[in-house]
Amino acid sequence: MSRFAYVNGQYIRHTDARIHIEDRGNQFSDAVYEVWGVRNGELMDFDGHLRRLARSLGELKIRIPMAPAALTVILHRMVALNKLRNGLIYLQVSRGQARRDHAFPAANVRPGIMITAKSTNAITAETRAEKGISVITQPDIRWGRRDIKSISLLPNVLAKQAASEAGASECWLVDPDGFITEGASSNAWIMTTNGVLVTRPANTDILNGITRRTLFELAESRGIPFEERAFSREEALCAREAFVTSASAYLTPVVEIDGKPIGNGHPGTFSLQLREAYVATTPMRSRGRPVRDPVWLVAHRLERLVG
Ligand code: PDD
Repeated sequence: MSRFAYVNGQYIRHTDARIHIEDRGNQFSDAVYEVWGVRNGELMDFDGHLRRLARSLGELKIRIPMAPAALTVILHRMVALNKLRNGLIYLQVSRGQARRDHAFPAANVRPGIMITAKSTNAITAETRAEKGISVITQPDIRWGRRDIKSISLLPNVLAKQAASEAGASECWLVDPDGFITEGASSNAWIMTTNGVLVTRPANTDILNGITRRTLFELAESRGIPFEERAFSREEALCAREAFVTSASAYLTPVVEIDGKPIGNGHPGTFSLQLREAYVATTPMRSRGRPVRDPVWLVAHRLERLVG
């Protein structure tokens, strides 16, 4: 558990952390979130997650709560305060606290921000990856803007619970045409029998995973061909390898879909190699340099102008 949380400007003991009853995240799911993996005390893919946060906020017209440089300091402070070696940092930004009314509140309502930390056991995660995980499939019943990292996760919660009840770790969601969109909390990948990595294109059907994007770079640098296209459950069942990617799972091999083995039923060679490469390159991707992303800078300047 988090020792300290950050809530609306204050570092506070986790057990004492509170948000207002009329926070719009609470009443309307009117909030977005980000999750950074932390490995050996470093926030992974730091800038990528910060950029996606800016994008999610922009898509929902929620104000950026503070300058990226300030947020960078707070996120690193949360790692330090919680003495986090391996785990996750969770950040949530809501449209703020206001009397309950569906339409947006007045422009001067400040966004609400909260951050928590969670430590995980690196050895357990490694063992899980070496063994591989099982996934089940279910219809994708989510809304049409899955590219926004909204906190509205009820379909994902139900899918994960179904996986858990079936003794699986993840649920791959299937669109009405029989194609996999993504996992309940991860992106879905296969490697075809002729050695091509395949994952769904990043449009409004899926969350454009930061780990997913990093993996493209790693595959490219290793000369592994990849395609962004939809693949069906049937194609996945015949794949040579399959895996999921996310900030928490990194790359974790899938060895079984709906009870049927993938390949020889063991983690694939390429999957394990790519996981190793992902972990090995963490330090290069985790510095948290001041973000010079134009989206952030323009939004922040505008914010200062309008007060
Ligand atoms: N989940 N798709 C969904 C629906 C997700 O929830 C996630 C991440 C991903 C992978 O994105 P990334 O590589 O940026 O973590 C894809 C996070 C970890 C979560 O909800 O805890």
